[in-house]
Amino acid sequence: MALSFAATSNPSPVSPERRAEILAAPGFGQFMTDHMIRATWTDGEGEGWHSGELTAYGNISISPAASVLHYAPEIFEGLKAYRHEDGSVWTFRPDKNAERLQASARRMVLPELPTEDFLESLRVLVEADQAWVPAYGDGEKSLYLRPFMFGSQAFIGLKPVNEATYMVIASPAASIFKGGPKPITLWVAEQYARAGAGGTGAAKCGGNYASALRGQLEGAENGCDQAVFLDSSTHTYVDELGGMNVFFVTKDGKLVTPELTGTILPGITRMSILELAKEFDLTPEERKVEIQEWKDGVASGDILEVFACGTAAIVTPIGGLKWQGGEAPPTAGEHGGEVTRGIRERLLSLQQGRTEDSYGWMHRLV
Ligand code: PLP
Ligand code: COI
Repeated sequence: MALSFAATSNPSPVSPERRAEILAAPGFGQFMTDHMIRATWTDGEGEGWHSGELTAYGNISISPAASVLHYAPEIFEGLKAYRHEDGSVWTFRPDKNAERLQASARRMVLPELPTEDFLESLRVLVEADQAWVPAYGDGEKSLYLRPFMFGSQAFIGLKPVNEATYMVIASPAASIFKGGPKPITLWVAEQYARAGAGGTGAAKCGGNYASALRGQLEGAENGCDQAVFLDSSTHTYVDELGGMNVFFVTKDGKLVTPELTGTILPGITRMSILELAKEFDLTPEERKVEIQEWKDGVASGDILEVFACGTAAIVTPIGGLKWQGGEAPPTAGEHGGEVTRGIRERLLSLQQGRTEDSYGWMHRLV
């Protein structure tokens, strides 16, 4: 039976004045809305998912023995809600996020949440917190939605959990990068891998991000904005960034991205850009990309543009590449290359409802 979410309104929501202040400069991930979603899964006795609720946003209580605190069975999603010109609120390909959460759940031995329950949880939260969705035409602002699930069973042994908790929180968002969409510089994390063959790289699980942080910090110490991770076996091939996929625009008209080998997150932005390539007369190509090809390509001019993409990052030009003892010539100019800017604008115009949704990618929430 489909899950329903019993609603209890927050008795002391953020005041309209304070909310307006927050929405004027939300940053990324700093402020939460007034409500949250919660549901529980219990194994056995045919219970499955139950106790769905919408409540005031606030701290939660879990047992110190909860599985997530010890063995990290935790998975999450990230998607955005956009206000369109007529006031309605939409999100982008949420069925794909639902499917990816199910795939992550299978890998991490957590229960799958049916797509209809996932979509309903987003609808209920965004309906309650619709005043938090930034106005149409307010730059690239949106309401970032963060569904997540963790093993909440109190048991110290290692085995599949018999209780899991699903939640959704929401946070108004501007650009993930301070100063907006300017070209970023990447650090090649040669010493650190984010995910290995047979591991959890294709799942959106918390542990992948904990393991990416050290490489990212090393990059920051070397003056870079983000780190790019290589395959953990040979340190030869480009995988992805800590929270974004990567694309190359080549001189011979290809739009190249590393193929999905099981160590890379199958990004929904990535998948969509591969479909948009034809609009830019580019041939999409998913294949292995050597880090050396990147270094040589930007030096020779065979690679014209490089960009990163993801829900939080949208499409972000990559201007520089540094590694221990070297750096590649800059690629993006001050505002990123023409194709990068074109794809960014195409995607944003679809998401923000400024152009007809010819792909049927948008899903109305409110
Ligand atoms: N790669 C990683 C590791 C990510 O965390 C994300 C962001 O969710 C992406 C890629 C891009 O995925 P999507 O486009 O679905 O947001
Ligand atoms: C997203 O783009 O939604 C992500 O989950 C990336 C995260 C590191 C902010």
